Amino acid sequence: MAHKTKTVAPQMVERASVDVEKLLDLLVRNAAAELTTYYYYTILRTSLIGFEGEGLREIAEDARIEDRNHFEALVPRIYELGGELPASMVDFHNLSARPAASRSNQHDRYGHHAAQSRAVCGSRVHEYL
Ligand SMILES: [Fe+2]
Repeated sequence: MAHKTKTVAPQMVERASVDVEKLLDLLVRNAAAELTTYYYYTILRTSLIGFEGEGLREIAEDARIEDRNHFEALVPRIYELGGELPASMVDFHNLSARPAASRSNQHDRYGHHAAQSRAVCGSRVHEYL
């Protein structure tokens, strides 16, 4: 990822012996994971109905908002360091290292999506889903 503008932030990171390009790559991949997880929880929330679903719906909503906040916190850091998000949403999604979310495969009997969400975010909230 090329630096468009050289600001103070990348120089400070380099002075701390951190590879700015590597850091930017990780930050962009993490932003993709956060945004796709946010999307996943958004569509998951719509399918949580009934007595049991209502309780989970609150948890899903908390996780959804948390991941959106993580995404929004990451984006300014990426640009401060001279990076950018991919212009293509498809490319951005594919950096998330998770399969595309869809309503049809949210609830397989093995709970694959819950495990994937834990893997990409690491937030404690995800442990409940
Ligand atoms: Fe997150």
